[in-house]
Amino acid sequence: MIRITGVSKKIKKHDVLSNISLNIEGIYGLVGPNGAGKTTLMKILSSLISMNSGKVEIDGEDYTKGKYVKQNKLIGYLPQDFMIYPNITVEEALDHIAILQGIMDKLKRKSTIHKVIKEVNLRGHENKKMIELSGGMRKRVGIAQLLMGDPKILIFDEPTAGLDIEERIRFRNLLRNLGSERTVIISSHIVEDIEFLSTKIGVLKNGKVVFEGSPNELKAHAKGYVWECHVTQDNLGSIMSEKEVVQIMEEEEDISVRFFSVEGDAKAKQVSPRLVDGYLSVVRDVKR
Ligand SMILES: Nc1ncnc2c1ncn2[C@@H]1O[C@H](COP(=O)(O)OP(=O)(O)OP(=O)(O)O)[C@@H](O)[C@H]1O
Ligand SMILES: [Mg+2]
Repeated sequence: MIRITGVSKKIKKHDVLSNISLNIEGIYGLVGPNGAGKTTLMKILSSLISMNSGKVEIDGEDYTKGKYVKQNKLIGYLPQDFMIYPNITVEEALDHIAILQGIMDKLKRKSTIHKVIKEVNLRGHENKKMIELSGGMRKRVGIAQLLMGDPKILIFDEPTAGLDIEERIRFRNLLRNLGSERTVIISSHIVEDIEFLSTKIGVLKNGKVVFEGSPNELKAHAKGYVWECHVTQDNLGSIMSEKEVVQIMEEEEDISVRFFSVEGDAKAKQVSPRLVDGYLSVVRDVKR
């Protein structure tokens, strides 16, 4: 359990994080719009940058100065834009990192590399150059190098950004497996990405926590407010201006529109909220 209490961070006089308190456990989805402060918080947790005030405790131990992490290799962090050594092979890259991590015995390195390659499903790709890999595979190498240090906490900043649908699904499965034995924090501004993965969700907006709880609790935020109606192309403009529209789907005959409202509409029916509705209802100032 990572307990974050009252963490604040100013960058160039701008309050990037204001008094953040969160209790992180399980597979934790950190979501929020662009600029919400997700990356900043992850970098603070990984001791890459300092905080101005507040406290971070991991399993009850104070971690405020970041010494704890460096000594124990407790946390592995995969940045938003991971890329290393473009012109050497996957195996060579991992071997190099293993040496940097202090594994000097050649046989031990080989067995460690074999183990992590298996864990991230990169078997058969060991001899490809980094630059020849797809974005998803490159991220797998990023995860493999983290796993060599056997961290108890893994932090992934936008791990599925830029991946195609199939890679995204494979990647989700990998993240789920990693989360079965470790605390995993995943940031995203796409709610669907963390929907089937997270056991707990924190929502940041403009550097503040606007929600923390289970996926069902987030959904429940929009309960009773989500309506759906069917309109023609001609009527779409008026509903867009009158209602807080959250989704528009073109269907064969007409257009289906989901919107937020307290009283609904004579032509609309109330529907049960999805996670994205709950997310939008905490992030937007909904005119209900
Ligand atoms: N080094 C920096 N210098 C100036 N401003 C910064 C710096 N780092 C972050 N910020 C500002 O802090 C705010 C939060 O940035 P951060 O990258 O943490 O957001 P984010 O939630 O990760 O966004 P995204 O979804 O776009 O990745 C933004 O307004 C950003 O412009
Ligand atoms: Mg970010």
